Amino acid sequence: MNDAGQALGFDERDFQRIRHLLRSWGGISLNDSKRPLVYNRLGKRLRAHGLALFHDYLNLVEENETEREHFINALTTNLTSFFREAHHFPILADYLQRQSADRNITIWCAAASTGEEPYSIAMTAIEALGHTAAQRVRIIASDLDTQVLAHGQTGIYRLDQLAQLPDAQRRQFFLKGRGTRTGYARIKQEVRELITFQQINLLADKWPLQGPLDIIFCRNVMIYFDKKTQLQILEKFAPILSADGMLLLGHSESLPHAGHLFRLCGRTLYRKVADKASS
Ligand SMILES: C[S@@+](CC[C@H](N)C(=O)[O-])C[C@H]1O[C@@H](n2cnc3c(N)ncnc32)[C@H](O)[C@@H]1O
Repeated sequence: MNDAGQALGFDERDFQRIRHLLRSWGGISLNDSKRPLVYNRLGKRLRAHGLALFHDYLNLVEENETEREHFINALTTNLTSFFREAHHFPILADYLQRQSADRNITIWCAAASTGEEPYSIAMTAIEALGHTAAQRVRIIASDLDTQVLAHGQTGIYRLDQLAQLPDAQRRQFFLKGRGTRTGYARIKQEVRELITFQQINLLADKWPLQGPLDIIFCRNVMIYFDKKTQLQILEKFAPILSADGMLLLGHSESLPHAGHLFRLCGRTLYRKVADKASS
């Protein structure tokens, strides 16, 4: 319903156009079951502009970059949590402890959403190396969605989002809010300073990143891309990942079509296949 209480004009052509735009800008495929979600989320944007027809809104999206950003932000799925798919974190700790003490380590968290994942990486680094040595670890946290990145950058979370963390970790890494911030906690500066947040579209031709990277976390985002797009991304991961680096994927993601680039070395853990030239 719009401000006048009427349903917004939304037909099959609009849905197909939305699908096409989201796919070409973000690589994200929407299936038919997403129609109600699309209507609800973008309906808010139509109301914000006082528009009654999706057709008119989509014309606006196509010509206005700011609205394009809102469009993408509205349609991404950002589900995440601290230490999600926890089996990767002891592997990360072990990797960090095995690196020589004079070496800087770069980790890319390529679909960082609201920040819980890069902060889990940073907390793991501090626990594994100690606060001083963890300064050698640089975490690049990126996402397509600028709204989730802005949230991540604040480092502020509801207390119930920390409920699964052990007490010791909550005490060591978070400051509880008071007054108007009751019910929230903020990640401490020592954790935040390991991370740089920036927008990177995995679909972009060129990423503003320099290898070699030690670890790439790219979890629970490949599932939104078709096989061809996945392969294009993996072909760009391989040259920027160091020879003994690791690629970590989400629980339902696998790479049977990229065996020439990455080999499975553990649960959703991949290593680069050695270059012919260097092997
Ligand atoms: C389901 S969340 C996964 C978050 C986190 N990696 C995890 O596993 O908990 C997927 C994230 O991928 C991001 N995303 C979708 N398409 C993207 C693209 N083309 N480039 C970069 N990030 C993208 C979404 O904005 C969203 O925040």
